[in-house]
Amino acid sequence: MTNQDEVQVSEAEIAVHWQEEKLYHPSTSFIAQANMTDPGIYDRFSLDNFPECFKEYADLLTWDKYWHTTLDTSDAPFFKWFVGGRLNASYNCIDRHLDEYKNKAAIIWVPEPEDEPHEILTYQELYVRVNEFAALLRDFAGLKTGDRVTIHMPMVPELPIAMLACARLGVIHSVVFGGFSGRACGERIADSGSRVLITMDGYYRNGKLLNHKEKADRAASVASAEGQEVDKVLVWRRYRGKYVSETPMVEGRDFFVDDLLADYRGARVEPVSMPAEAPLFLMYTSGTTGRPKGCQHSTGGYLAYVTATSKYVQDIHPTDVYWCMADIGWITGHSYIVYGPLALAATSVMYEGVPTYPDPGRPWRIAERLDVNIFHTAPTTVRMLRKAGPDEPAKYNYHFKHMTTVGEPIEPEVWRWYYEVIGKGEAVIVDTWWQTETGGFLCSTMPAIHPMKPGSAGPGMPGIHPLVLDENGNPIPAGAGKAGNIVIQNPWPGQFQTIWGDPDRFVETYFAKYNKNPDSKDWRDWPYFPGDAAVQAADGYFRILGRVDDVINVAGHRLGTKELESACLTVEEVAEASVVPINDELKGKMPDIYISLKPGYQPSEEIQAKVVRSIETTIGKIARPKHVWIVPDMPKTRSGKIMRRVLAAISNHMDVGDVTTLANPEVVETVRQMVQGDRESEFYG
Ligand code: WTA
Repeated sequence: MTNQDEVQVSEAEIAVHWQEEKLYHPSTSFIAQANMTDPGIYDRFSLDNFPECFKEYADLLTWDKYWHTTLDTSDAPFFKWFVGGRLNASYNCIDRHLDEYKNKAAIIWVPEPEDEPHEILTYQELYVRVNEFAALLRDFAGLKTGDRVTIHMPMVPELPIAMLACARLGVIHSVVFGGFSGRACGERIADSGSRVLITMDGYYRNGKLLNHKEKADRAASVASAEGQEVDKVLVWRRYRGKYVSETPMVEGRDFFVDDLLADYRGARVEPVSMPAEAPLFLMYTSGTTGRPKGCQHSTGGYLAYVTATSKYVQDIHPTDVYWCMADIGWITGHSYIVYGPLALAATSVMYEGVPTYPDPGRPWRIAERLDVNIFHTAPTTVRMLRKAGPDEPAKYNYHFKHMTTVGEPIEPEVWRWYYEVIGKGEAVIVDTWWQTETGGFLCSTMPAIHPMKPGSAGPGMPGIHPLVLDENGNPIPAGAGKAGNIVIQNPWPGQFQTIWGDPDRFVETYFAKYNKNPDSKDWRDWPYFPGDAAVQAADGYFRILGRVDDVINVAGHRLGTKELESACLTVEEVAEASVVPINDELKGKMPDIYISLKPGYQPSEEIQAKVVRSIETTIGKIARPKHVWIVPDMPKTRSGKIMRRVLAAISNHMDVGDVTTLANPEVVETVRQMVQGDRESEFYG
């Protein structure tokens, strides 16, 4: 790729460009025990057999009523799966396992302080606690089927309990990542129309007991300012009976869950039989415009898809000990800590804290002690563990049969360390490419069927038929060595249903680009556009390059540049802001911020600090920028558009290309010298 090309598209174009074609094969012992070894599954799920092939996935669930129509396209692209069917997600994740597995661990919770005991919830215990909390939600909080509830909680067992209690009632949960700020939570409360917030007093992170309850007060006031009153805040306590937050409880609004539960001891709640198409949850994610969008996932299609992919791609058996290190506040945790694994009667491990606390040997002590055999994490964590403790895994006696990577492209060098050092050369790796919107995996190798190729996700999953298209919609053939936009040609059951409250944006963002007939009722006319660039090798494997839109993928977490820019603009002195992705050794990408000041203000460290603070309180600490550059002016086109790609090239030490047509080409050189002349200091002062 030439430098000229490199400044054309945003993140995809500055993604790492590696070449790697070496194949690694799964061991015979892995294949011998794997859930899916039949390559015929790809024929069964060919486009010729679409959509009926997905019956095979839906049959992994227990239905109250079987469906009559596998796929209804009459309101394309709002596709409906398994129409006429009824089921309950909580029943499928708990009740149906009780006969066989009631005394088996469903969730093993590992607190961050190493001297605190683990908490082990058997399926029977999970059943009891979900029922009691569901009764509380129904009878105390007055929630009913179809209501939305926002859950802002850390990684504690009460989080999946709350989710499954909602699912039992047909209440739509919207889990907000615990690390997000009170403001971010409040905006999501308002957008989803939740009048109940479920939260927690505090939790451990890096050895510190954080005050989480204070975020609830902020969230409620932000929601109220947007017209949504929160009338009940349900506060779980990290230690039963002991409040660890300094933030006062608000009389009449805030309640301790452990106190309230005393009235619901032994309560049982019939799982509400929900239509397959009823929403199960909302998950907010960042996009190209300032406001996060609430991706709405269905009950039947979603659960069928995550159950099947957990079984075949994660290779989960009820006898396995499965540990996904993601946070349940992201889609990975929903699909592959809670719903998929529990629907399969797995033992799912949850860890409260940071992987390197108190030292980088911690994950391996957990794996050894619990005898974890399936491990799931993101490249950013692998990079961090590799940097902090390259020799640690070898010191512990654990053995993984299977490992997953998710969330961002993994460099072959990091992949090999994952394989050889963490996996001890014994575990298969699946590199799973997908998104919040897609519910479950889109591309990955099938672990007992395909060889692995470091840095490549692999072929489309069974029933997922990707293509790489150029800007005009022409397919780029496999092996052409050219990147393009990856699309999925067909709908699938895990696909989200809409953006909550904004169906037009759903069509516009994900389908309009390659749809030729907006009135078509034929699914073939609605390829799904995920917003990523990819190349397809001659063997059919896809290598994902990164985003083609205004989304920055920081440590596997999606941040919208518009959200970051509007946070900068709330700082009084800031006139203009532009945010671009900069490559980072550990996090993959980070936001790099350029601001210009209103007349009369001088650049200062104080202004830079204000910008950082504003980002932390508006979004959260995960969005912290790598630098805040105060520039005299932004490079602009003659029509006044800020040239983000020029700034991105400067941040990433790339050629800025031809800038002579800009309105102010001299600014580019000033900014370049400022940024590239001084890489050591965090802030330009
Ligand atoms: C990126 C996380 C390369 C991609 C499940 C996608 C990946 C975005 C991979 C979705 C992967 C995810 N290889 N890139 N294996 N997995 N991505 O919604 O850009 O938080 O569009 O979902 O992460 O992020 P999200």
